[in-house]
Amino acid sequence: MQRRTTFLLGKKPRAGTIVAEVIDLLTTWDVSCEVLLPHDQHVRPDDTQDVDLVVHRGLSGADEDLLSTLDAMGTPLCNPWAGSTHLRDRAALHGALDRASVPSPRGVMHATWAEVLAEEGRRRVVVKAVAGPGRGCGVLPSPLPQEPPMDGPYLVEELIEHDGTDRKLYVAGQHVSGLLKPSTLVRSHTTEGTPFTVDAQLAELARRTLQHLDLHLAGVDVVIGPDGPVVVDVNAFPGYRGVEAAARAVAAHLLEHLGRADDPTS
Ligand SMILES: Nc1ncnc2c1ncn2[C@@H]1O[C@H](COP(=O)(O)OP(=O)(O)O)[C@@H](O)[C@H]1O
Ligand SMILES: [Mg+2]
Repeated sequence: MQRRTTFLLGKKPRAGTIVAEVIDLLTTWDVSCEVLLPHDQHVRPDDTQDVDLVVHRGLSGADEDLLSTLDAMGTPLCNPWAGSTHLRDRAALHGALDRASVPSPRGVMHATWAEVLAEEGRRRVVVKAVAGPGRGCGVLPSPLPQEPPMDGPYLVEELIEHDGTDRKLYVAGQHVSGLLKPSTLVRSHTTEGTPFTVDAQLAELARRTLQHLDLHLAGVDVVIGPDGPVVVDVNAFPGYRGVEAAARAVAAHLLEHLGRADDPTS
């Protein structure tokens, strides 16, 4: 029987982007793919009745009810709902990484900038706005300004000394690819990256991170500190831009997920 997926997307997939390419591939593999856009149309949980898998990307807090309802109805989701809740904001991610057995920066939450500055008096820090939009916005290293440059609450992390280059790990199921990109602490955000061969240690770190966080499709930002690799950020279903054969890896994972959804023993 033909497998059925629904893609719940924040915006319409443009040609050449990961979602468009994944849908093309799945279609050629005889998987039916419907696209629904909750930001442009009213989507009810029943609209995905009987689909084998709901894939979601780029949704907002306003769509959480829809996803959690689908999860409660037993609809398989990619990424799984539990994983999405770990990425709700930087505080949730910090807590999830803290509980996972992966190296991540130690950090504390502060409500006011005065508390952040007091914390900075004890050690060099990286401050992150809890509700930051990503791409380096709302992330600031020591030395910090006296006046708050962004709204709190704040996650204050120990500053990990590194070489200024992020190892960006792009994961789809068991598949891990890597791009080197300048840290946004030293250069403004860029979509360009240099592919590099991910060694076994980094690949294992990426897989372990996703396993602990209940995620299947994610980007893991790693810096190499004095004691080795440290996970500083995790993003759900990234754009995989510049990652070779990414669409194939993502589509292959979704196909596997579809098979698993069908397996009553899983
Ligand atoms: N604790 C840290 N110590 C040193 N550098 C960090 C730390 N946290 C983040 N960075 C650097 O800052 C960059 C942006 O931080 P990140 O948490 O990834 O924010 P964003 O959500 O904007 O991507 C990272 O890619 C990394 O280079
Ligand atoms: Mg990041």
